[in-house]
Amino acid sequence: MNADSQFIWMDGKTVPYASAQIHVLSHSLHYGSAAFEGMRAYRLTSGKTGIFRAKEHYERFFNSIRVLGYHTRWTTEQLVEATRALITVNGFQQCYVRPIAFIDDAVRGLRLPKEPKASVTIATWDWGKYMGDDGHKNGVRVGVSTLRRPDVATSLPWAKLSGNYLVSVLSRLEATQNGFDEAILLDPNGYVAEGSGENIFVVKNRIISTPPTAHILPGITRDSVIQIARDLGYTVREENIIRNQLYLADEVFFSGTAVEVTPIREIDHRPIGASKPGPVCKTISEAFFSAVHGDSPRYSAWVTSV
Ligand SMILES: Cc1ncc(COP(=O)(O)O)c(C=O)c1O
Repeated sequence: MNADSQFIWMDGKTVPYASAQIHVLSHSLHYGSAAFEGMRAYRLTSGKTGIFRAKEHYERFFNSIRVLGYHTRWTTEQLVEATRALITVNGFQQCYVRPIAFIDDAVRGLRLPKEPKASVTIATWDWGKYMGDDGHKNGVRVGVSTLRRPDVATSLPWAKLSGNYLVSVLSRLEATQNGFDEAILLDPNGYVAEGSGENIFVVKNRIISTPPTAHILPGITRDSVIQIARDLGYTVREENIIRNQLYLADEVFFSGTAVEVTPIREIDHRPIGASKPGPVCKTISEAFFSAVHGDSPRYSAWVTSV
């Protein structure tokens, strides 16, 4: 067993990693009925540790819980506080943070209890570059998936629900089996939606476009990138993008908590732009990393000190 951290937070208790267990008949294990989040804490230039956009992540967490109709006894403030304490007790200077809300009741079919009470746990682990150091530096190779983002009538794309992630898991598997680093999924209408776990930006003639929010998870990094890009004077449009535009773009890049800002150098074996990180992605990426490390007074409210 690889103990990623010493402790995990479980509904108010800080328990040793090996004891952080739930029952095999948990409803959420069987039916994907859990809501989760993912955020990163960074080592700040000041030497302290800061959680990036903790409040927004926990607000989305509670929205996901609300969408499922669950109840919890926790508030955003309490979970931010619990996260700060957990990072400290685990001794991390930087890490990934994974809260999850799930139904621990033993399975008796699909039916949920009348007022489903979600258990909440928070784990932390050390997570380097999601797509490897080379991918982040030189750009990743991606393929358009045969799987699509589900229709909005049958999924709840704004919520981070475990069940939603089966499509992500399978599309990433397909992409890596085909020799790519990551997948791009189209929406049910054939427009570009997002990566398996990240949002996407396309640059053409210095105009930045990104898909509208109907079929995607509206990422908190996406929001940060849009704000940063506009503050830098770029025009950012939320608009439908077709596959053809991907191939003809000057630059394409991903955004997300795991992937941070990662350039894409190749899509479906076609080089994108000069097949290396482009100037727009580089400029935004620099501003993003300066913000997460607490170096930008303009975005200081995004960082919660541990
Ligand atoms: C499907 C999907 N899209 C986009 C994102 C990016 O969201 P964020 O920037 O909030 O991490 C994620 C990651 O959480 C994701 O899983």
